[in-house]
Amino acid sequence: MTTYLVTGAAGFIGANFLKYIIGQHGDGINVIVLDALTYAGNLSSIKQEIDLPNVTFVKGDVKDHDLVKKIFAENDIDFVVNFAAESHVDRSIENPRLFLETNILGTQNMLDCAREAWLTGKDENGRPTYKAGKKYLQISTDEVYGSLEKDYDEAQPLHVSDELKKVIEGRRELTTFGKHFFTEETPLSPRSPYSASKTSADMIVMAYYHTYGMPVNITRCSNNYGPYHFPEKLIPLVIHNILEGKKLPVYGKGLNVRDWLYVEDHCKGIDLVLRRGTVGEVYNIGGFNEESNINIVHLIIDTIARIMRDEPRYQALLKCRLEDINYDLITYVTDRPGHDMRYAIDPTKIATRLGWYPETPFTVGIEKTVRWNLDNQQWIDSVTSGDYQQYYEQMYGNR
Ligand SMILES: NC(=O)c1ccc[n+]([C@@H]2O[C@H](COP(=O)([O-])OP(=O)(O)OC[C@H]3O[C@@H](n4cnc5c(N)ncnc54)[C@H](O)[C@@H]3O)[C@@H](O)[C@H]2O)c1
Repeated sequence: MTTYLVTGAAGFIGANFLKYIIGQHGDGINVIVLDALTYAGNLSSIKQEIDLPNVTFVKGDVKDHDLVKKIFAENDIDFVVNFAAESHVDRSIENPRLFLETNILGTQNMLDCAREAWLTGKDENGRPTYKAGKKYLQISTDEVYGSLEKDYDEAQPLHVSDELKKVIEGRRELTTFGKHFFTEETPLSPRSPYSASKTSADMIVMAYYHTYGMPVNITRCSNNYGPYHFPEKLIPLVIHNILEGKKLPVYGKGLNVRDWLYVEDHCKGIDLVLRRGTVGEVYNIGGFNEESNINIVHLIIDTIARIMRDEPRYQALLKCRLEDINYDLITYVTDRPGHDMRYAIDPTKIATRLGWYPETPFTVGIEKTVRWNLDNQQWIDSVTSGDYQQYYEQMYGNR
């Protein structure tokens, strides 16, 4: 029986990861979820999972040494997956300190507690030894690499090696906006308080590997999208505003380019790295899917308008007229300070070494995401009204 300690699993990617591992491994695993339930944590996203006998929810902070130590003392944890973080760049510009505390000190505390629990002694060279089969996985971001040039105004065909073609045969028509990509060897060059805090955390993780020989991996992913995404981020915000008939704010001219990864593809990659990744290695997990913000907004408008026309039952969700769902909803707002122009991650290493590739083409992923939002309005309403913050009290207040 493998026991996971998953931090931040009431957040967007963590919730999807919890669902993924339960779906994959069923009652062959135990999972402890540790989450502080900040504004970004929504317990109702994982309601079904935390009711399972093999899943335990602990409300608490990754920085709380006594609490995390107790979790390790009471459970034989095999895998730590550290999603818990402050994750929104705009918020990091407003309040950098919180980001440094959660993202750096929280990571260091999780590492310390794992090290204490897993340490068995020393080998003949005086190097620390650990219980077999243990691993600490840090969930990081492509933002640690900084920003790339955008060389083309329009997406161009992306040419990949023959070795890579064999792995990604299910994915055709790959495109790019530039000549250069982030690989695992790209020097770290963060530019926002958020990415600086994530970079520091990555360096602490690697320091624990080099100094203490701890069994660690780091995964660095591009922008995720999919179900249970908090509607302050671009894709769920645009979906929500279209249904509400509200304007769609786009930074600058909407020309910034990001690589987009369907969250379930990401979750598969994380579980693969946990189980098969080489200790001490970093793996980039990307979508082979660069897109400019403005093109994404266009695609979402077109997708929602089409679904509304083809399936009129969804029109009951609209607070505007169907004919008003068009590009006139877009409004350009002053750009974010230091807004990175392009991120493009190269996931060749995880593809060729572990056989993973991002299976979901963007149009398919966007359609799935739009449909999830249409079919889960209750979740969206509870998030946008703030009611989700009472959910913990309702569920656990009297226990
Ligand atoms: N969303 C993306 O596109 C993306 C891209 C690259 C990397 N990442 C990384 O993936 C991870 C998860 O991202 P997300 O989008 O799911 O984040 P999120 O903001 O949706 O969720 C974060 C979760 O962490 C919890 N949390 C925050 N502070 C905590 C603390 N001190 N102790 C315990 N729990 C705490 C929150 O309650 C929430 O449940 C983060 O580490 C983020 O940096 C995300």
